[in-house]
Amino acid sequence: MKLILATRNPKKIEEIRSILGHQFEVAGMDAISASSDLELIEDCQTFAGNAIIKAVSVAKTTQQLALADDSGLVVDALDGAPGVHSARYAGENATDEARNQKLLHELKDIPYSQRAARFQCAIAMADKEGKIEVVEGICQGKIARQPKGDQGFGYDPVFVPDEYQQTFAQLGVTVKNRISHRRRALALAVKVVQNWI
Ligand code: IMP
Repeated sequence: MKLILATRNPKKIEEIRSILGHQFEVAGMDAISASSDLELIEDCQTFAGNAIIKAVSVAKTTQQLALADDSGLVVDALDGAPGVHSARYAGENATDEARNQKLLHELKDIPYSQRAARFQCAIAMADKEGKIEVVEGICQGKIARQPKGDQGFGYDPVFVPDEYQQTFAQLGVTVKNRISHRRRALALAVKVVQNWI
């Protein structure tokens, strides 16, 4: 079963591929000529809304079953920021390091007990006939005092999942892919796709 992922983020593609295993043949947008130039606009104020925009746009363009992940970090002490703006939190072309540094700076006076946060992931699926469904997954945790670890991507070096004392970037992919927001959303997404086919 072939799935086109509405993303150009190689780390996300790798993570989704490893969670889904062999049951799906997964390709990113850049691997499909019809979608290689497609621009994805994420202008919704919800993860689910953005995931739907991306999945529908890729399904229409490629005429294949598309799956889009829209995700981000929601921090209680920052009233939910960076939220849907997670990718652009430190400006348009900023690095993961810059985003993490900005986040740690914003939280510099907040004690560890009040640094609750969660990763949220919405996965939308769309087919060429216009069928759409969206599911969500959450992973609760806290924001570390400093970045630690070198695995994963994005905010992984500053996120400590509940029940653990290390960041996602220290724990590594095996643990992350067992408990993450993306894993939880994908488990629901697989059921939807299996129902469709
Ligand atoms: P988008 O869903 O590709 O728009 O990504 C949103 C932002 O959240 C990016 O800065 C990602 O790096 C970050 N992000 C999404 N999922 C994860 C994750 O699993 N770990 C760390 N950062 C993530």
